[in-house]
Amino acid sequence: MTSLFETVFGAPPEAVGRAHARANLLGEHTDYNGGFVLPTPLRYETVVEVAEATGEAAGFVEAHSARFGETRTRRAGEPARGDWLDYVAGCLWGLAQEGYDLPPLRFAIDGTVPMGAGISSSAALEVAVLRAVRALLKLPLGDGALARLGQRAENDYVGMRCSIMDQMVASLGTPGRALFLDTRSMTSELVDLPAGHRIAVVHCGTAHRLTAGDYNTRQRECEEACRLLGIASLRDLSPDDLDRTRALPDPLSRRTRHVMTENQRVLDGVRALAHRDWPGFGRLMDESHASQRDDYEVSIPEINALVEAAKRHGALGARLTGGGFGGSIVALVEAFRYADWLAHVLADRPEAREI
Ligand code: GLA
Repeated sequence: MTSLFETVFGAPPEAVGRAHARANLLGEHTDYNGGFVLPTPLRYETVVEVAEATGEAAGFVEAHSARFGETRTRRAGEPARGDWLDYVAGCLWGLAQEGYDLPPLRFAIDGTVPMGAGISSSAALEVAVLRAVRALLKLPLGDGALARLGQRAENDYVGMRCSIMDQMVASLGTPGRALFLDTRSMTSELVDLPAGHRIAVVHCGTAHRLTAGDYNTRQRECEEACRLLGIASLRDLSPDDLDRTRALPDPLSRRTRHVMTENQRVLDGVRALAHRDWPGFGRLMDESHASQRDDYEVSIPEINALVEAAKRHGALGARLTGGGFGGSIVALVEAFRYADWLAHVLADRPEAREI
């Protein structure tokens, strides 16, 4: 079969990189607080083909996106423009910052990852681009370092202050398993998902409006809470510190309570999975949603209604997944009842759709 690259550029690609989208099961807005996360790769994948663009100058990048049906180019030193090519150019910029000498490059981008669903299409693109370039140029780049480069591209080139969860699970995750990651020590472990159950992802119908503004406000609130408490990171707090943090002004006390209790929920969740306590894991998902809704205030009415429908029709647990302000929920559903469950949920929430 002719590849997209060959169709667009008339010659075969020289290397390919792929990466999956993700759903986070527990541990939301904990990664930029040095905390714990538990994401899992989804079946959706971004596929990036690459070859040297012979005849062009170093720093040149050209890419075709099947999703957007267009080809764009950029040259060394050109800043981000707010388009999809930023993610590709940002990765190359990051590699150059690390001292790698890159030839001019040409990419073709295809795949199945839906955008605006809160399942991290951007990290999948960054990791797929970096894997393609690593394979092409045989770069001595480990999976953790590759994830950090993706984050750096997004932080410093694209201009979004995301943390490290999404790139790490795209780079180190395995479909069918969850990645238990400590974002302070950056140690991770693959954990088995509940046998006989489905990890359901359902979009609420409102694209996630994770603007840099909302996300950065939450980060600043956490930094301010740390300053008032005289600690370096909210990770330094455990649920035993709840009394201490109650004295913080609102909303900082609630923001802090979310992060503390959410870290504990990840630890409890990993234990529940190890003991095959699926209902226990589901309860932790429910508690996580309530905490995101009431304490961290990153949910929206459409998401809350979808979570309630998911529970009403028999999910063991359901919660907002990802950055928030729209996007998708993740739910734990017994496999044998999944089709029925989904039909009921979609009948209740016609604007929702299965991801
Ligand atoms: C976004 C960011 C992640 C993480 C989540 C919230 O998806 O990219 O790093 O902070 O929000 O848990």
